Amino acid sequence: MTTFENDVAVVTGAAGGIGVGICRALLDAGARVALADVDADGLDRAVEELGDARAVPFVVDLGDDEQTAGLPERVRDHFGGLDVLVNNAGIRQVTEIADLTPSEWRRTLDINLVAPFVLIRAVLPGMVEQGRGKIVNIASLAGLTAVRGRAAYGAAKAGLIMLTRSVAIEFGSRGIWCNAVAPGVVETPMTSSFFQDPAVTESLVQVTPVGRWGRPKDIAAPVIFLAGRASDFINGVTVPADGGWTAGYHAVGV
Ligand SMILES: NC(=O)c1ccc[n+]([C@@H]2O[C@H](COP(=O)([O-])OP(=O)(O)OC[C@H]3O[C@@H](n4cnc5c(N)ncnc54)[C@H](O)[C@@H]3O)[C@@H](O)[C@H]2O)c1
Repeated sequence: MTTFENDVAVVTGAAGGIGVGICRALLDAGARVALADVDADGLDRAVEELGDARAVPFVVDLGDDEQTAGLPERVRDHFGGLDVLVNNAGIRQVTEIADLTPSEWRRTLDINLVAPFVLIRAVLPGMVEQGRGKIVNIASLAGLTAVRGRAAYGAAKAGLIMLTRSVAIEFGSRGIWCNAVAPGVVETPMTSSFFQDPAVTESLVQVTPVGRWGRPKDIAAPVIFLAGRASDFINGVTVPADGGWTAGYHAVGV
């Protein structure tokens, strides 16, 4: 018996680094997976890389409320069900507050916070009707602690963490689990610029107690736990998957 026994999972941002890692782990654990992303070519590459007929691409622009709200129905029409939602799509915005414009602020909140809210609202009726559903939101260490230049991104991710808790308390008694994973730095296309500069990689190692940055599978592992049945007594939490970064200040000699 596998963890997901043919359950259907939809993963947003599935063409991205962490998204592909989550999809692979879900397939390995027995799920059928709807890969959702705005990047059609990226989705084709992801599906080819996964090489599994249970992985099916769905092009969707999560900046468009109507398209976003319509995604669960498309997934249900194709697979005949929808058991797990992973809100993983996100955009990074690195600008200090003095230079950050209201439109950048709104766009960052739209993709990182409003879209997960719209998608959660759209999956809930079907999940409640079937008596069970698991939602996992991908937040960020920047939603747990302030990071320079991430005011908009961090506010969106902190909002996503509070949305997670709100869904858990409003829907927990109706068979819905909503938890979050807050990644630290993970090597993906989103963060590729970090890894071109040895000074940056060295400082990443310094601030991370486990002494390395993350890989997509480091994030996929807690997602599988929170999307599966082993976590049925856990609702509304955010699990930092950051190598200990947010555990506390750990500079030597202070
Ligand atoms: N990589 C990290 O270090 C890191 C750290 C903390 C949190 N995260 C979070 O993890 C998640 C995945 O990040 P990643 O590093 O894999 O990034 P990525 O850039 O590799 O992937 C993000 C994906 O989201 C998709 N996306 C963006 N806008 C979209 C839209 N309007 N509609 C549909 N899809 C859209 C992109 O096309 C892309 O495929 C994000 O929510 C990110 O904020 C990443």
